[in-house]
Amino acid sequence: MGEKNYIKPIITKQKTVFYGKFGKATTTNILEKIDGIFITELVEKFGSPLFVISEKTLRRSIQRANRTFKTRYPKFQFSWSYKTNYLDAVCLVFHEEGSWAEVVSEFEYDKAKRLGVPGNKIIFNGPHKPESALMKAINDGAFIHIDHYDELYFLIELTERLKIDAKVAIRINMDTGIYPKWDRFGFNYESGEAYDAIKRILISKHLQIKGLHCHIGTYILSTDSYKIAASKMTYLYKRIKDEFNYQLDYIDLGGGFASKNTLHAQYLDSSIVVPSLEEYADAITSGIFEYNLKEDELPLLFLETGRALVDEAGFLISTVVANKRLSNGKQAIIVDAGVNLLFTSFWYKHKVSVTEDYGDVQDDSVIYGNLCMNIDILRDGVFLPPIPPGKQIVFHNVGAYNMTQWLQFINPRPAVVMITNEGVAELIREKETLDYIVQLERIPEKQKMK
Ligand SMILES: Cc1ncc(COP(=O)(O)O)c(C=O)c1O
Repeated sequence: MGEKNYIKPIITKQKTVFYGKFGKATTTNILEKIDGIFITELVEKFGSPLFVISEKTLRRSIQRANRTFKTRYPKFQFSWSYKTNYLDAVCLVFHEEGSWAEVVSEFEYDKAKRLGVPGNKIIFNGPHKPESALMKAINDGAFIHIDHYDELYFLIELTERLKIDAKVAIRINMDTGIYPKWDRFGFNYESGEAYDAIKRILISKHLQIKGLHCHIGTYILSTDSYKIAASKMTYLYKRIKDEFNYQLDYIDLGGGFASKNTLHAQYLDSSIVVPSLEEYADAITSGIFEYNLKEDELPLLFLETGRALVDEAGFLISTVVANKRLSNGKQAIIVDAGVNLLFTSFWYKHKVSVTEDYGDVQDDSVIYGNLCMNIDILRDGVFLPPIPPGKQIVFHNVGAYNMTQWLQFINPRPAVVMITNEGVAELIREKETLDYIVQLERIPEKQKMK
């Protein structure tokens, strides 16, 4: 054994901290910069509150996910779930990285088309697709995922009336051990309903069934459930080939992988309980490989992963408005962003950071928003030092569902900035203004006359 390398000693300041119920030391996260730009500088330039997307983190997570699946399975394609975050700049990053678009409404369909996604790279899900949307999808050669019998019969009638072909798949719900089952969408597997719907499509004149789709739920921690879903879907895919000599092209396993957030109800931290992408990928591919299909018989595998790809790239910067003590002595901090902007705070204990070291004394704190509503709690049970008004608190892992489900309520919605790979902070959605908000309002004639 050779001589050991000399390692310079380092003195680390020990912090006095409170111990939680389980003996875990609590420390305050300090985050001065996002991708090299000072948070204070971002607020000075774009205001507070402010959503920030890190292009670097986003691309890294898409590329890693692509690599993970493509190394395990030869035919693989991501389709970006628009409802998770449909800001143009975010969708463009996904499309540049090779993702198709997965949409669930005519609005999302039009948004994808407007961004230049060709119809034959759009997957159209959802329980309500109006005739005008179906016509666009049929004419563009998009993949229409049928949700229920009424939609199926309407499509049969429409395509026969117009004598045009439509590319379709059916959404399937099934028991994968996740309860409650998401059986309000699609056709049921175990009862034979899905099989019957497929038979009905196979004898239709103008519907060309291309694939099978399922989405077993969201924030799914069980990789076994994905293995069951992949296995059931592949079994059906093979059965259609064996019994009808009809070759489907794909199976689509939807989304649902958990992101790095911790749920309120979760006892352990997400870093302990959330499976890695590799574990999800191993489970899915082993479910498909159960049937020993030859390479040319294997289905193309689609995934519509949403939150697990975008959450980490999103930050919400807020500014402290005031501090107070509640009647029970608990420290309360009021910030200038509310739950209308951070919808996911109803489900998650979002990680929070401050931008400076405010000393060693921390207290069990609740962070309230600025809404004048009792429900406006952004984070509870977090140990924080007293933070002076005017200073920032940053919420992490907010990239999914907040910038689509946000409500304009009491205040205009804030700006969104993307920090590009080149380290430039670019505005990707402007802060709303009073004029923007009232532009669709109209005053009745009699009120105008006054
Ligand atoms: C059909 C479909 N695909 C994909 C997704 C994305 O799910 P997640 O963000 O959990 O990955 C959803 C979300 O509910 C969905 O309904």
